[in-house]
Amino acid sequence: MPVVIVVGVQWGDEGKGKIVDFLTARADLVVRFQGGNNAGHTVVVAGKKTALKLIPSGILRSGTRCLLAPGVVLSPSSLIEEINSLSEAGIDVNPQRLGISGEVQLILPYHVAIDVGRETLLADSKIGTTGRGIGPAYEDAVARMGIRMIDLNYPEKLRGLVERNVLVKNKILKGVLGSTVQFDAKQMFEELITLSQRINPYLTNVSLEVDRAIREKRFTMFEGAQGSLLDISHGTYPFVTSSHTAAGYACASAGFGPKHVDSVIGICKAYCTRVGSGPFPTEDLNGDGEVLREKGVEFGVNTGRPRRCGWFDLVAVRRAIRLNGIDSLILTKLDVLSGFRRLRIGVSYELDGKRIEDLPPCADEAGRVVPNYEDLDGWTEDISNVRRFEDLPVNAQTFMRRIEQLTECPVGAFSVGPDREQTIVRDAGLRKFAE
Ligand code: IMP
Repeated sequence: MPVVIVVGVQWGDEGKGKIVDFLTARADLVVRFQGGNNAGHTVVVAGKKTALKLIPSGILRSGTRCLLAPGVVLSPSSLIEEINSLSEAGIDVNPQRLGISGEVQLILPYHVAIDVGRETLLADSKIGTTGRGIGPAYEDAVARMGIRMIDLNYPEKLRGLVERNVLVKNKILKGVLGSTVQFDAKQMFEELITLSQRINPYLTNVSLEVDRAIREKRFTMFEGAQGSLLDISHGTYPFVTSSHTAAGYACASAGFGPKHVDSVIGICKAYCTRVGSGPFPTEDLNGDGEVLREKGVEFGVNTGRPRRCGWFDLVAVRRAIRLNGIDSLILTKLDVLSGFRRLRIGVSYELDGKRIEDLPPCADEAGRVVPNYEDLDGWTEDISNVRRFEDLPVNAQTFMRRIEQLTECPVGAFSVGPDREQTIVRDAGLRKFAE
């Protein structure tokens, strides 16, 4: 069985959770490889909504084991809340179903305070983070000041690490950020010890588990969070998240070699959204963006923030196809486009009067590019009950075929609503995962 990586190809919120849930009908292992509780998916199964932040959507399939790889950052209190809310929804999260790498870096309350404090101080030039402490936790990892899952197993060592970090973070909060928030090391240590009793049983060796699964030819899926254009190296820096969201990082994070990857699937909305600040060339501020937001319910699952909305951006998606080596696209939320008389695809950019091929690396320039659009006729029919490509209105078929032509990438599946049943597979290669 295959090794598959699933990533978002825009600025996040492409519907990855729902698609991973759909594709994991037969998956043995689903591994989340980056990000933390900045992500948020709502998965609908038989009309019932479940919100996930860190735990892979594979948890909704009883035969699937889920892993959090070393490249993930984990807030112990948020994880326990998520486990509790899944349990209230009747999904038992136990150490047989979920494993967490000892190398996973912890997000602690001082990371959240620094994230929020920095955004407040920067005001007009803020990044628009989710305020979950993601950036500061990754900063500590590379500064080699991080506290990791495995440290929860060694209370005396943990006490020392917490004391050292709280000393430094309190100084940063007060002296640099002018914040009134201060932490007490003893209290934080005691809270961590209490939390560790709940999460230590999940500790595992992710690299070994992945290696075993690959050798035994079990179906292994890697689930990315956020989107390719939020990648720390390849996204619209500095308006990005603090991890590598591109598919290649699945290998570095989980600890296995790239030669084992069989397929990379890119999840792509039929239009485009972004949350937070930063360049968004095809953003629509003339009314259509607002209609897309209302019809697509484009509000953050995690923070409730309204998402900025606009048209399909071919240049950006082509960049993501290249960055990830996408084999097949899955086009989500096609139903949201029903009712638009005119559909737009941003096919190229101009920067200061010159045509350019790609998003410029400089955010100021990327913010100035003007897209050239190709317009297509829309359709009026409600397509939420369509279950075959051939039953879509002709203009919807044309829209999808045009995306395939322009991206030079097949659209292997598409979705017409939030339910599992509303994802329609066109490609036989993908069908074997889902049935
Ligand atoms: P951070 O990841 O909280 O540091 O936020 C950095 C940027 O990434 C901000 O623009 C966020 O809005 C964006 N971001 C982070 N997580 C997600 C997500 O799951 N979906 C969409 N945008 C996200």
